[in-house]
Amino acid sequence: MSVLKFPHLFEPLIIRNTVFKNRIFASPQGSSYLDVDQLPTPEITVYYERKAIGGAATTCMGVRSVDYVSGVNFGDNKIDTMNHRGISWFKYYTNAISRHGAVPSIELQHSGAFSEQSALEGHPIYGPVECEINGFHVLPMNEEQIEGVIRAFIESAKWAQRCGFGMVTVHGGHGWLLNEFMNPKFNTRTDQWGGTPENRARIVRAICDGIHREAPGLVIDLRISGAEGVESGYGIETGIEIAKSVDGYPDIIHVSVGHATFDEAFTVTHPSMFLEDGVNVKYAAAIKPHIKHSKVATVGALSDPEMMEEIIASGKADIVNVARGLVADPDLPLKARTGHEDDIDHCLRCSHCFSQVMTTGQFSCAINPEIGREREYTTEPLKVVKPKDVLVLGGGIAGMQAAITAAKRGHTVTLVEKSDRLGGILLCEKDVPFKIHLHEYIQNQIRRVGENGIKVMLNTELTPEQAEAMKPDVIIAAIGADPIVPPIPGVDGANVLQAQYVYTHPDDITGKTVILGGGLVGIELGIFLKNMGKDVKIVEMADKLNCGGNMVHEMGVNVEIARIGLETHTSTRALKIEADGVTCAGPDGEVFFPADHVVLAAGMRGRQAQAAAFAQSAPIFYQVGDCLAAKNIYEANRLGFNAAWELGTRW
Ligand SMILES: Cc1cc2nc3c(=O)[nH]c(=O)nc-3n(C[C@H](O)[C@H](O)[C@H](O)COP(=O)(O)OP(=O)(O)OC[C@H]3O[C@@H](n4cnc5c(N)ncnc54)[C@H](O)[C@@H]3O)c2cc1C
Ligand SMILES: Cc1cc2nc3c(=O)[nH]c(=O)nc-3n(C[C@H](O)[C@H](O)[C@H](O)COP(=O)(O)O)c2cc1C
Ligand code: SF4
Repeated sequence: MSVLKFPHLFEPLIIRNTVFKNRIFASPQGSSYLDVDQLPTPEITVYYERKAIGGAATTCMGVRSVDYVSGVNFGDNKIDTMNHRGISWFKYYTNAISRHGAVPSIELQHSGAFSEQSALEGHPIYGPVECEINGFHVLPMNEEQIEGVIRAFIESAKWAQRCGFGMVTVHGGHGWLLNEFMNPKFNTRTDQWGGTPENRARIVRAICDGIHREAPGLVIDLRISGAEGVESGYGIETGIEIAKSVDGYPDIIHVSVGHATFDEAFTVTHPSMFLEDGVNVKYAAAIKPHIKHSKVATVGALSDPEMMEEIIASGKADIVNVARGLVADPDLPLKARTGHEDDIDHCLRCSHCFSQVMTTGQFSCAINPEIGREREYTTEPLKVVKPKDVLVLGGGIAGMQAAITAAKRGHTVTLVEKSDRLGGILLCEKDVPFKIHLHEYIQNQIRRVGENGIKVMLNTELTPEQAEAMKPDVIIAAIGADPIVPPIPGVDGANVLQAQYVYTHPDDITGKTVILGGGLVGIELGIFLKNMGKDVKIVEMADKLNCGGNMVHEMGVNVEIARIGLETHTSTRALKIEADGVTCAGPDGEVFFPADHVVLAAGMRGRQAQAAAFAQSAPIFYQVGDCLAAKNIYEANRLGFNAAWELGTRW
């Protein structure tokens, strides 16, 4: 008997005397905000702690190299077991996690042949075999060096236990050193470390044995790639062979997929929005029947508790790991446990978060503005001392976020929207299959507007004078942006449509279609139409398609474009639109693309002046979202949230 809707998901798991309170494990995520000695700061501590507060059974601080001379791929991910001052900071960190009943975990890694950072710093780098990778010469490890690596993992695990970690994730996947050893395509050694599956996994078994012996009680989660996810890589048969060769040595065999250094595989390891929910569960499910002793974990594109419950209940895996799903909504486990699963904000898989970590080292999320600023917003929030009357103009992403946040903070809120519904411009994507979670998120926000006592006025457009007459203490203008119409002859022809229109009326598109603009709006529209079987091509005047700086999403977009065979023309500028097509200047001179429809996706221009016109209508004024600068969901949410957050805290 259980009072819970998801009893299998919330069935505790006891491994080596350690209680995992449920089956939802926060998947490894690399660290930013470290101090100069790469020790955890309060900011990074609370970033991981937030997942523990939200109910995850364990949270994992991602890659930390056990060999900080020759085994580093990224800059900031080293373990220095000799830094004794560090232990107190890591102890502070692990206490912060364990006080919420979650098991603190850390990932131990050696980047092997892909230790580019080490190579750049002038150190020799090693793998199982001699090879050239990305222009770096990789030396083969000798017996002594292999024993050294085994010792480094064991010493790091002992150090982790001293710091209060209850689990270590040993990285044996994604193309890093231990994966290179276990991979028959990579490891062609003929000694005791190569050849048979048993020989290839000897290094991993020795590491697990050593950790169990010298750090008794520490739980070992071994991350492997169930398949490499690239044509030249290994498939699930090898994944099964690898898992069988280590069965019983780690406590958990954690089946990821892919290879960190190939774009095509990277967007499977971190499933892009073009892949279905739970796309990688099949790898764990294929491995599980072959495993007798270890638990099996799965990971990738999981955020729906219904799906997670089915995975555990049907025996596809014993554990689900969630990375981005707990960034988008750290309270996912608590909401699922307490019957509030409809309130979960599902990750959009837009990969804004990963891209930001890789390019700026910042933690952030498109739909969760608290991420990366948990101290200010969650654990040490400023108090509202003077509640206000707040008037929000515009019911899109920014306006709804501002209204909900202000209402939750105790202000009285009126939300005025010009159109007949809330949701803003993104409502146009409601039928796009790969934007399903975005649509769910917008619906959640609309519901939250209703639940928080916000007065909503639809079909209403105020003048500044009318707004002033309402005597609000605060106006937050969030009135969005207009599509840019490029000055191309023929742009006002009957065959020319705006991208937003086409998103909602795809059936109007028959015959040949040319999309002008290879930014994300145009690219995603092209993918949407092509997937519907339409004859569509994209024309972009820049020399490459523009994914707005989101490099991880760009990888997913490029893989999808190649998969579906979407035609794109870069360095190609539209000169003239006529009833039967578009004339362009391309890299090889003038070119004519026949077209029944020409779709404009030429960018957005913020309604800056219309919004600024309200600046004198209330004592406090904010301008947020696209009407400040047409950008993206993250910026709209961030600014809408913060404007509402700081209201009434000082004056
Ligand atoms: C087709 C398309 C796809 C996109 N996809 C993505 C994506 O996948 N990821 C991403 O990060 N970004 C995406 N963007 C960008 C993203 O939509 C915007 O950055 C975001 O919606 C901005 O939110 P906002 O609230 O500022 O504006 P909007 O969502 O445009 O909302 C503005 C609201 O104000 C209302 N309004 C206008 N004038 C007035 C007035 N005078 N009084 C009251 N109300 C008024 C409008 O009716 C509207 O509801 C996309 C944009 C487009 C056009
Ligand atoms: C920002 C970010 C950082 C990550 N860092 C690591 C890491 O340090 N080590 C690792 O093994 N996986 C890392 N991952 C991969 C995740 O653990 C997970 O396998 C992957 O994101 C798929 O799960 P998801 O769809 O739930 O995000 C990272 C993922 C993200 C989004
Ligand atoms: S930024 Fe996008 S991909 Fe990352 S957690 Fe948030 S919604 Fe998911």
